[in-house]
Parts: sequence; structure tokens; C-alpha cells
Amino acid sequence: MRRATMLFLAAARALCPRVTQPTRRSIIRAAKSKVNKPRYATGKAKAVFRGEGLGAPSYDSAPIALSGLPDTTKPYAVLGIETSCDDTAAAVVRSDGTILGEAVASQHEVHAKYGGIVPGLAKEAHEQAIDAVVDEALKQAHLTMEDVGAVAATVGPGLEICLRVGARKAAHLASNYEKPFLHCHHLEAHCLVARLDDSLAFPYLALLVSGGHCQLLWVQGVGDCSVLGGTLDDALGEAYDKAARMLHLSSETGGGPALEQAALRGNATAIDLPVPMKKRKDCDFSYAGLKNALRGKVAEKREERGLGDDDDLPDQDVYDLAASFQNVAIEHVEDRLKVAFKRVINEAGASPTLALVGGVAANAELRRRVASVASQAGWRLVVPPPRLCTDNGVMVAWSAILCGNQISGAPRHRREVVSVAASARWRGDSTPSTRRCSRDRVGSMAWRCTEVSAIFLRIT
Ligand code: KG4
Ligand code: ZN
Repeated sequence: MRRATMLFLAAARALCPRVTQPTRRSIIRAAKSKVNKPRYATGKAKAVFRGEGLGAPSYDSAPIALSGLPDTTKPYAVLGIETSCDDTAAAVVRSDGTILGEAVASQHEVHAKYGGIVPGLAKEAHEQAIDAVVDEALKQAHLTMEDVGAVAATVGPGLEICLRVGARKAAHLASNYEKPFLHCHHLEAHCLVARLDDSLAFPYLALLVSGGHCQLLWVQGVGDCSVLGGTLDDALGEAYDKAARMLHLSSETGGGPALEQAALRGNATAIDLPVPMKKRKDCDFSYAGLKNALRGKVAEKREERGLGDDDDLPDQDVYDLAASFQNVAIEHVEDRLKVAFKRVINEAGASPTLALVGGVAANAELRRRVASVASQAGWRLVVPPPRLCTDNGVMVAWSAILCGNQISGAPRHRREVVSVAASARWRGDSTPSTRRCSRDRVGSMAWRCTEVSAIFLRIT
């Protein structure tokens, strides 16, 4: 274990005496890296607050913060905070895209024995980790809060009680240090983190595969995405997690990575599983049928081996089932991508580009097969490094910077009252069936997240 990580764990222990042993041992990733100067988004400044009407209550005591961004003609740093699900993450990113510091505390161990994320425990773990994670990101960046130009936090979509932990921390830092506070849309942040690669220009196709979402998006600008298709039931990450649970693989690393590891030792064609929606030629996904088929195969194997319902299968059976599940799950992705490529080819123009983003994009087999389908179709693929695919603070800070560049005309140096409304659901989070683009009009707006993420203060 790296010395910095050891030190951080020691600090986390000292700062969080109530943290249970597994939480203390939570995976802390801290890294410092340079990335190339990104190409900034261009476009008209839009400044629309999108917090009202969500039905989520504001904080009891509205903190005071400065509105507006720092002088965007000079480099500035943004602290990004992410607590939408089961990762407590923070990062400091400079406005030119240089990652100055980052830290993540994962909660896999906390939830492993429950077979899924328990919101109350997730909130508690966020509360226990948040201060140490933010401190570590700043420490890695060799900056203090005084040096930071703005604070950003994910405010949706996600688990509301978890979102509130990060949003509250950000609001209080903004208030105490008189910094602007920016709201981030989680899905947009996943899509925009790919633009840390400065060769990725708008528009591009994004395949967003995470625990809560599975969407094909046509990303035309900051705050400007069309949904080409989404899942009708389970998301891809959710399917991985459920499959891992069925195979008794749930572990300290999380279901998806555990299944990926098991699949490495298995025969991907050993078990016959149906590829979802093979005959449908649209961009929607469905993983519930595959999950149920896997459940049936697991039961068959148990019976074949004379095992009871809760008994573990022999290792090789587990590996073969995992590999076969992964093979078919990815074949479904390949099918959908081929349809999406055809649908957007006209809009894409000369250099069609795909960005593979979201937690499941950390999966090496998915990365390999998506790269192959893209290259066969003449599409360029951009995939962030695995640590920037799973939830992280960099994507929050970076999307805030990109949004901020669009609204640099916002008022500066005025004291205003911040009222944060964190929400589990957003307009952009609607079910794909109601928000899907018409087949032939890719450019039509299925959802616009400018309103969600571009501006940050609610004046009460
Ligand atoms: O984006 P993310 O970190 O959180 C959400 O926004 O949901 O994605 C988490 C999901 C989980 O379902 C997790 O099991 C899956 O991404 N995941 C993976 C891998 N790493 C994370 N699935 C398959 N293979 C992986 N290596
Ligand atoms: Zn995510």
C-alpha cells in the first residue's frame, strides 16, 4: 500500500472514530496526474436555475455564499464533491483540466453482506468519510480552501439522502470560505469527463453504463444531450451486481468487478443464455430477461450437482456462468451500438466519435469489445481511465468548470443566500419510453441538462 494511502487511512481513523473496521479499510484511491489542456466548450451562456419544482426540501439553514465564478480568464481550481451513491469522492481540478488531487472512499464492504446498497448505511458512511476525503483531495493538490475558486457537488440524480451529504458539505464550504457553489448533474458529469481528452469535440455519442443508468446519448454541447435509448428495466451495472449476487460473488470490490474477475477464468460459451431484444433495431436496452435466464441456469446447475438453494456452486461452474453472462451482456451492447452508429452517422459528420463512460466502462472486456465494434464501423473511441469511469470527484469539478465557462457572464462578488435542493430524480432522468427521440430526428431534444447544471444559486 502506498505511503500516502497509509497516512490517509490513519487520518481517517483518527477523524472518524465511529467508522466500523470495514469502512476504515475502504478503498482509498488518491492520485495526482496531469492531463492535456482540454478544448473548452463553446456556446451561448445560459443561466437558468433548475432547482425549483423538484419537491425536495431546502436545507433548514441556508448558508451564505458568493455567487458567480472566479475570473475565468485566469486559471482557477474547483473542488468537486460526489456522494450520489456508494462512493464518497472529492477532487481538485484546475480550469485547464489538470487534475491536482483526488480521493475516494468506497463503501463496498459496508453493503456487501446485504447484497445491495442500503441507503441509510450509505448516508452514514458518507457522513463519516466526507471530511477526510475532501481534506485528502486538497492535501494532494497542495491547496487550501482559500486557494480554491469554486466548490461543486452532485445534486442528482442519485440517492437523495446521500446526495445531501455532499451537497451540504459543499454548501458549507462555499459559505465559510465565500466561494461560488455549482450544482452538477451526475449523468452529464459522467459524459463530460471524457472531454478531459482534449481531442474529444462536440458532438459525440456517449454510451453511459453505470449502476443506475444505461443510455445512449447524443452529446451536442454542455447541457445539451439527446437520449437515443435507455434501459427498459435493469441498467448494465445493476445486472452485473445482481448476477454477482446470484453467483455468491459479492465481495469487497463490488459486484461488477467481482464478476469480471470470475469471468476471466470461465468459458464464455459454456452456458447458453439469450441475447436480449435481438430482433429489435432500436437503441433501447433490457437486462431483466438475461438476469432471469441466468437465475434459471444457476438453479439447473445446483440441481445437476445435487446442491441446495443456498449452497455454493463449484468454482468452475461459477466462472463459466459469469463468463457466459458477461459475453451476452456485452453482445447486447454491441448490437445497440451498431444501431446507434447508423442512426447518428449523418449528424456525426466527418469524425464520428464514441465516448464510453460510467462505472461499467471500467470493465476491460467491455472496453475491448466496444473498441472493436467502433473501429469496424469507422468510429473513434474515447474511454476515460477506469478510475474516472466509476464515480469520482474529478467529473464533478470538471463538469462544473465546463458549465462555468458557459456562464462566465454571471454576477460576481455578490452575497446571496444559497439554498440547495438535492433530488433523486431529474427531468433528464425520466424513463426512456417517454423521452426517447423520434427514430429519424436524432437532433431533437430529449432532455436538456443546461437547466440542471449550468447555474448554481437559488436566491431565497
Ligand atoms: O458510475 P458508477 O460508479 O455509479 C453509478 O452511477 O451507478 O457505476 C457503478 C456500477 C456498479 O454497478 C458496478 O458494479 C459497476 O458500475 N462496475 C463494473 C465494474 N466496475 C464498476 N461492472 C463491471 N465490471 C467492472 N469492472
Ligand atoms: Zn455514476
